[in-house]
Amino acid sequence: MYSRIVATGSYLPDKILTNKDLESIVDTTDQWITERTGIKQRHLAADNQSTCDLAEQAVRNAFESADIDPQSIDLIIFATTTPDRVFPSTACLLQQRLDIHGCPAFDIQAVCTGFIYALDIADKYIKTGAAKRALVIGAETLSRIIDWSDRSTCVLFADGAGAVILEANEEQGILSTHIHADGSFSDLLTTNASITGVNNIGKVHIGMKGNEVFKKAVNTLGAIVDETLEANNMQKSDIDWLVPHQANIRIINATAKKLKMPIEQVVITVQNHGNTSAASVPLALDTAIRDGRIKRGETLLLEAFGGGFTWGSALIKY
Ligand code: COA
Repeated sequence: MYSRIVATGSYLPDKILTNKDLESIVDTTDQWITERTGIKQRHLAADNQSTCDLAEQAVRNAFESADIDPQSIDLIIFATTTPDRVFPSTACLLQQRLDIHGCPAFDIQAVCTGFIYALDIADKYIKTGAAKRALVIGAETLSRIIDWSDRSTCVLFADGAGAVILEANEEQGILSTHIHADGSFSDLLTTNASITGVNNIGKVHIGMKGNEVFKKAVNTLGAIVDETLEANNMQKSDIDWLVPHQANIRIINATAKKLKMPIEQVVITVQNHGNTSAASVPLALDTAIRDGRIKRGETLLLEAFGGGFTWGSALIKY
């Protein structure tokens, strides 16, 4: 039994902050941000919009695209690093909005790799027969934990949501997933937003050693490409589409180079929405499915790297 993607959806909040806008907030330039990151603009949640609000839009978008009844969902996994509340989980808050009752619903926290982790778990539920139709979401409101006076991070991170619906099917779907973590790198990419740091409210920030994260991301993603291909006995040329985590165009280019993949076969959306952490892979996937680039039967390599460090990949026959 395979997990097949039967629907995708995504949502970006209306408010757009361009690189030019950022020039009046911190000491930066459109040219610096574009050259170092590939980002041109990002979307920010409205003051009254939460991570669950963004996710709900993406999920309704997915249900509509395939005319699927929410009542048929028997598993909800929600990847986020910016949950609405400490508890209940954002998955339970979303379940309530969808008027679904009884099926397991839980959050996964693996920062930018969260969606790949969620996909890995959902796939195992489906393969073992424990679920038949799973809703997997990646959604974030990272703007809430950004220090808007820190130019080294505020130009990178933003808000958004993406979702997929997986269904048990005998036809090929997810071929393999690979997830990893190494907590010894936890201080290279972190936030001071915490329960023990409640006094920090209003002073939260993301801390990042950008150069070190960059090098580790490039090397680690190169290695996971090899691991994924070897596990499936496939060649680089068997991949039709690379759907990478949208953190930085230079990291994406390095992975494409490793795969010897022309850039036309790489889904790149980072210019439109910056780094949306767990939302970034499903956002890119939904974009390329809806605009007709990704077609049924093609082979997709999804990958991500993030705080923790965590990293992972999924090889999918779409
Ligand atoms: N605008 C203008 N200058 C900036 C700037 C900004 N927004 N942010 C940093 N700078 C400056 C630095 O202060 C530094 O100035 P200095 O040389 O006078 O000290 C200079 O630019 C170079 O900084 P550095 O950090 O070495 O730049 P970089 O080439 O490594 O690029 C990143 C910075 C953040 C773009 C890059 O390290 C990166 O992409 N890292 C990975 C980040 C990431 O993707 N994280 C998430 C992973 S999931």
